[in-house]
Amino acid sequence: MAIDQKILSKIDNLRREIEKHDYSYYVLDKPTINDREYDKLYQDLVDLETKHPELVSDSSPTQRVAGSAREGFVKKEHRTPMLSLQNSYNPDDIVAFYERIKNFLKTDEQIELFCELKFDGLAMELVYEDAKLASAITRGDGLIGEEVLPNIKTMKQIPLRLNKDIALFEARGEVIMKKSAFKELNEAQQEAGQNTFANPRNAAAGSIRQLDPQVTAKRKLGMFCYASGVVEGLTYSKQSELPKILDQLGLPAMQVGDFKSFAKDFSELNSMSDDKKQKLADKWSAQLSMTVKSPEEAIAYYEIINKIRTYLNFDIDGIVIKVNSLQLQDELGFVARSPRWANAAKFEPEQSVTKIKDIVVQVGRTGALTPVAIMEPVLVGGVTVSNATLHNQDEIDRKDVRIGDTVTIQRAGDVIPEVVEVLKDKRPKDSKAFLLPTKCPECETDVFKDEGEVVLRCHNPACGAKIKEGLKHFVSRKAMNVDKLGDKIIEQLVDNELINSFSDIYKLEEEALLALERQGKKSVENLLNSIKKSKTPELGNFLFSLGIRFVGEQTAKSLAQYYGNVESFLKATEEELLSIEDIGPKVEGSINEALSSQAFVNEIKELLNVGIKPKSPAKAESSDFQSLVFVITGTLPVARSEVKKYIENKGGKVSGSVSKKTDYLVLGEDAGSKLTKAQELGVKTLSWEELQQL
Ligand code: IVH
Repeated sequence: MAIDQKILSKIDNLRREIEKHDYSYYVLDKPTINDREYDKLYQDLVDLETKHPELVSDSSPTQRVAGSAREGFVKKEHRTPMLSLQNSYNPDDIVAFYERIKNFLKTDEQIELFCELKFDGLAMELVYEDAKLASAITRGDGLIGEEVLPNIKTMKQIPLRLNKDIALFEARGEVIMKKSAFKELNEAQQEAGQNTFANPRNAAAGSIRQLDPQVTAKRKLGMFCYASGVVEGLTYSKQSELPKILDQLGLPAMQVGDFKSFAKDFSELNSMSDDKKQKLADKWSAQLSMTVKSPEEAIAYYEIINKIRTYLNFDIDGIVIKVNSLQLQDELGFVARSPRWANAAKFEPEQSVTKIKDIVVQVGRTGALTPVAIMEPVLVGGVTVSNATLHNQDEIDRKDVRIGDTVTIQRAGDVIPEVVEVLKDKRPKDSKAFLLPTKCPECETDVFKDEGEVVLRCHNPACGAKIKEGLKHFVSRKAMNVDKLGDKIIEQLVDNELINSFSDIYKLEEEALLALERQGKKSVENLLNSIKKSKTPELGNFLFSLGIRFVGEQTAKSLAQYYGNVESFLKATEEELLSIEDIGPKVEGSINEALSSQAFVNEIKELLNVGIKPKSPAKAESSDFQSLVFVITGTLPVARSEVKKYIENKGGKVSGSVSKKTDYLVLGEDAGSKLTKAQELGVKTLSWEELQQL
């Protein structure tokens, strides 16, 4: 049967979308959709792939743990992978989870469960060798993370030495920032004219992923450990024993409380005053991990925690239920990227009711007009919010949102709050439907929709708002990475007419900067240094920074790889562009449009004039392995990332799973199913040594 093109393209779109969100979430710490929407996309993909197994490919997001380590830190492999959990949103799924376990174990006996909070922070592995903190690795893609030891060491809550002599102890947990510390930090950031963080999770992640530990040291971070990785010199047999062990070792962990008394304390939760709830939440806040006897008790735990989570001083986004017996955990094992013995039951996003005072229209980098609701400040999920995006006119019409409306809003996971629904009975009588303007609110040029789009756009290249947003993109981390040039400063510089184009940034002088409000000698010096440091970007980052529509980070990299330098890129032809993988007519058209604008080309030349020297991408060192496909498995004498680099430097490709297309399987110790598969298919195997001699 011929492959259904429609399904193939649907699958492909889902994959691209998921990859995009993975990147925003795991690498940038800037989620673009909420967890629920993400989980839906993921599930849709899983469903389609289950229905069409012939379309599953190695590179599908379902075939790996999401997220990859970010450049600038040393990468380090986890001794055993840090996996993720299967998510559900419906407490009934807890029963289904329990049934699945019983079926798998073929038992009728009751299985004890251990319930914990699902902390919303940054997953971390602390490695203690001979009881000394030797390494702290972020989750990364689950196999390889980033070494952030110097940063973690600044956290007073984490012991540098364990209380007992243990040969090897890997503690896994979540680095978090308490809501109170988060509030303080954001106030200070605001005061200093720096960017604020969207929520405690981003603040924690951003603080850990600081190249400068001095900055981390100033942030009030905390951690909850909830699992162990590889351990030598200590054993335990139940999950519920771990918190005590961690505590005895000196590691921070949520302790175990008694479920019966907990349920009793909260039995009248629905009629309790806020004050009472707060008092009880405080009383229990250090012992919220609990052993329960049945899925029904786990559901009761879920319901109580859901109702008291606003009263806790740290963010959680659900609960985690684990089979208590480690022996049973062992028997249950893993499926793909998650353990069969654990399940995360997530909470619905927290909602609040507030009133829309105004609707303003913002102009983005590409000229897109975005309506934003300005609301009476309200607390949702521990964060005060006053803005919510309304996306576009269609969305406003669909929800019929008007100025003066009382609305339910939600902060789903971490993202910008959104209006869920309008409470129509509270609508003022004289309210009118909201219409987006026909002219750009910033430069007053007529706005219109491009073919096939829902958003209105300002097409004036000299529009002030577009210039500001374009500059913000230009200096962002994946672009030119001028880290001291935050949004606020960009706006200040444009408003003061100190910059108007990318190249103007490189012409800034100390004197003019010192004359600005809030800028002292030290900050100006830092700013100028960070501008100077940005002058030698990778060519891919440079091309990305130019903000050509549809040229994302990946496309920019492909362009860099193909053209090798700016001069050749400026001469790009349609035919060449279309021959590049992942460039289609839409992207090609946009690049061509940009390159045919004299102003755009002149600006690029001016950037080169002011001293920007983009670095050409490294060419493969040799082409010895050209068109060969390798798969790596088992424990190798060197880090897997190194083996991968070795192969890629010689022009080879590394794939995640063995198929007919595989040329060689690079084999380490304890190889598993990949080896079996390779033997079945007659794929040749190589050791690391043999690979180097190949
Ligand atoms: S156990 C094999 N317990 O949730 C999986 N994870 O979606 C071991 N998380 O990556 C994870 N609180 O970062 C576990 N009490 C808890 C947790 C927890 C938060 C995070 C963790 C993990 C993610 C899975």
